[in-house]
Amino acid sequence: MTFPNTKGCLLVRSRIISIGSYLPERVLSNYDLEEMLDTSDEWIIERTGIRERRIADESQAASDLAFEASKIALERAGLNAEEIDLIIVATVTGDMPFPSTACFLQNRLGASRAVGFDINATCSGFLYALYIADGFIRSAMHRKILVVGADVLSKFTDWKDRTTCVIFGDGAGAAIVESTSEDRGILSMSINSDGSMWELINIPGGGSRNPASADTLKKGMHNIRMKGNETFKVAVRTLEDAALKTLADNNMDPSQLSLLVPHQANLRIIQATADRLNLPMEKVFVNLERYGNTSAASIPIALDEALTSGRIKDGDYILLEAFGGGLTWASALIKW
Ligand code: ACO
Repeated sequence: MTFPNTKGCLLVRSRIISIGSYLPERVLSNYDLEEMLDTSDEWIIERTGIRERRIADESQAASDLAFEASKIALERAGLNAEEIDLIIVATVTGDMPFPSTACFLQNRLGASRAVGFDINATCSGFLYALYIADGFIRSAMHRKILVVGADVLSKFTDWKDRTTCVIFGDGAGAAIVESTSEDRGILSMSINSDGSMWELINIPGGGSRNPASADTLKKGMHNIRMKGNETFKVAVRTLEDAALKTLADNNMDPSQLSLLVPHQANLRIIQATADRLNLPMEKVFVNLERYGNTSAASIPIALDEALTSGRIKDGDYILLEAFGGGLTWASALIKW
């Protein structure tokens, strides 16, 4: 589904006015993983680009990470929590099946005027949440929206499964979105899903299909399962299609982009997408070597680092794109 803005008209757009992110302190390196299972630093770097990832401690749930990231975003925006009127949290590793992680976050922040809900779109979650926020802002239903991507996949990882546990890390990123009538902001977004490929990535246990039981626990059904190689191929194809479509919707060419900020899943996926868009890697933001795949948190963490390191300037055209379980994929074109 695509929702392009009409060029040349005076219209309200939504704009990310600030970003914050949080990574847990504990670092788990490839060398640590070598001690835990049959893998190697060399394999992981060659196949994924990842060198280390952050792991939440036992007491930290998704809302704790989300809280830290949100505090920073609010501070940078010069807002207090009561000024937020909507909180959308993208997560697949929420604190509990219910209440929503957004409700926990609202409470921790003291965002007493806000309503909150969660959305589930795995690694595409932040962009799905941004899409919803964009629609609410442009329809004037909400004015100041806190959009968060937070995931703690380490708690849903089989640490004996080398095909998944080396990939993921924990983290959170938060953005404050509000309206602007300036010639900037979110130009267009695209979100997509294809449920026929749900089997490629999932956590089969713990829901109403396979409620938690001694048997699901024994079979490890509460942990993430992924057909990595098949997922890889679909990811490359869909990310290229999504990027080209979003650019075409805006009559733009990849060469006009200042920066591509992709979901940080695998360096080879990122390089393949950049190649197909004919973008040099200097125009692609990559930080997965330090954090791995942080699921819904990956894009806002990358955006935060791109901004604080001066890689994004006012007026730059930025393309965000993500891909994940569902399958889901999404992209956003922003004039910063
Ligand atoms: N260390 C050493 N060897 C390994 C490891 C490891 N950690 N993992 C797998 N291998 C082995 C396999 O057993 C296999 O061995 P074999 O040939 O003897 O059978 C060999 O390496 C190749 O395995 P592949 O799965 O083909 O490896 P591939 O090059 O595809 O890399 C990876 C695997 C990194 C998972 C890659 O496929 C990938 O990144 N896929 C996409 C993941 C993704 O983007 N997911 C979407 C987001 S996740 C979400 O939504 C929650």
